[in-house]
Amino acid sequence: MQYVIQAQSVTKVFNGFTAVNEISFKLIAGECLGLLGPNGAGKTSTIRMTYGFSPMSSGRLSVFGLDIRTHWREIKGRLGVCQQENSLDPDLTVQQNLEVFGRYFNIPAGATREKARKLLEFIALDHRRDAQVSELSGGMMRRLVLARALINDPELVILDEPTTGLDPQSRHQVWEKLENLRSEGLSILLTTHYMEEAARLCDRLIIMDHGEILVEGKPAELIIEHAGRNVVEIAQPTDELREFIRSRDLTHDDLGRRILIYGDENDQLFDIIRERFCKENCSLRGSTLEDVFLRLTGRQLRE
Ligand SMILES: Nc1ncnc2c1ncn2[C@@H]1O[C@H](COP(=O)(O)OP(=O)(O)OP(=O)(O)O)[C@@H](O)[C@H]1O
Ligand SMILES: [Mg+2]
Repeated sequence: MQYVIQAQSVTKVFNGFTAVNEISFKLIAGECLGLLGPNGAGKTSTIRMTYGFSPMSSGRLSVFGLDIRTHWREIKGRLGVCQQENSLDPDLTVQQNLEVFGRYFNIPAGATREKARKLLEFIALDHRRDAQVSELSGGMMRRLVLARALINDPELVILDEPTTGLDPQSRHQVWEKLENLRSEGLSILLTTHYMEEAARLCDRLIIMDHGEILVEGKPAELIIEHAGRNVVEIAQPTDELREFIRSRDLTHDDLGRRILIYGDENDQLFDIIRERFCKENCSLRGSTLEDVFLRLTGRQLRE
């Protein structure tokens, strides 16, 4: 197996605070690996180490089989990065932002110009090539950052919340672009708060919290394992329902005004629940990655 990223016991400590605590993971060539977790879980801190933006406090990290401590220059030329913040130059035009970036990689000016033209077409911003970046909408800037990450024809792109702030149209468009890139063999490391995005794009997911990995697996497997196939949501639950859940030791979440029971639509228990406890206050649906995420990381807001 060829690993594009190999992280072993990687740790990041900021002034005594451990943001990433000895995490180990691998990204296989050609796959899209998603990093999920609540605000402050340590996603950005983790991926910043993988693209050399922030040094590890301890651990080992190799990219393309090369140690990032010793082979950073070589790795950098084969990577594309889309940071959580846009970091575009507001005083330059759309086209110039791409060209300046091409220069960092020592790509000849003519080739960069041609590549920039193609990329602007790819993200549907070719009609704005001469606009100042400061005149773009937030979603347009995000698309431009994505295009910029591709200027050097990377083998691996690292995308920190690539679609945050995009409207549904742009988000779906970006998903399609990323699917195209992946089908061409690009490896992708991605963070997102959109569970639909993670389920659609990622071959494998890591869910982390408090700097540690909670679970790792294929989206569909994580759903079955942690949230069953189906969920019955019952509003205004009665004491009788709670007692029934307790007596049968059902997998559930009690949110006070609502109870979620996880299982399989075909289970007899689900039939009993529906017969005894469901009137118009009840809905049955397929389990989702969002269920898994909330089950594993809780429903409390992060500070
Ligand atoms: N430069 C820094 N100095 C001190 N603490 C930091 C620094 N960067 C991040 N942290 C802390 O490390 C923890 C993890 O932050 P990180 O940005 O990695 O989270 P995240 O999972 O990317 O969250 P979000 O979903 O909000 O982007 C947080 O508690 C954050 O406050
Ligand atoms: Mg982040």
